[in-house]
Amino acid sequence: MKKSSKTWFTLTVFLCLSIFMLSMVSIQQQPEPWEVPAKFKSLKNPVASSTESINTGKLLYKKHCASCHGNTGLGDGVKARQLETFPGDFSKDSYQGQTDGEHFYKTKTGRGEMPAYENKVPDEDIWHIVNYMRTFKK
Ligand code: HEC
Repeated sequence: MKKSSKTWFTLTVFLCLSIFMLSMVSIQQQPEPWEVPAKFKSLKNPVASSTESINTGKLLYKKHCASCHGNTGLGDGVKARQLETFPGDFSKDSYQGQTDGEHFYKTKTGRGEMPAYENKVPDEDIWHIVNYMRTFKK
């Protein structure tokens, strides 16, 4: 190879690598604060947490939620990287400190890239998922 074509080759490889690496570190926004109506905030979870409920919630979570929220709720699901908004870290206090009613409301109504599950998952099943998501607490 001539010296000049070698330089071009190196430059092209370098450029391709840079573009590839830049595409990996897409800038993701932190979610805005999400106000939940008082009525929902204080809503009591009608489904007692039990091994059975947690197992039901786990199956439903894997089916509907894990693609974005990740298997352990860290917000690292396979689809998460393509989202403009970080889906949240369910192991943290900022999530676990919220009431069951808040988790229920947000799952039911959705917002932005977070889908609304109102017409997809029955209320009782959402409560099972809420119970399961408590197990993500660190
Ligand atoms: C397509 C990706 C996607 C899927 C699938 C998804 N979510 Fe989300 N979720 C998000 C995003 C993005 C946010 C942040 C939205 C915001 O605050 O604007 C979010 C936020 C939330 C929040 C609020 C978190 C907090 O810290 O307040 C809860 C609760 C939640 N999701 C539950 C669920 C449940 C339960 C499911 C499955 C039934 C689910 N999500 C499925 C993307 C998703």
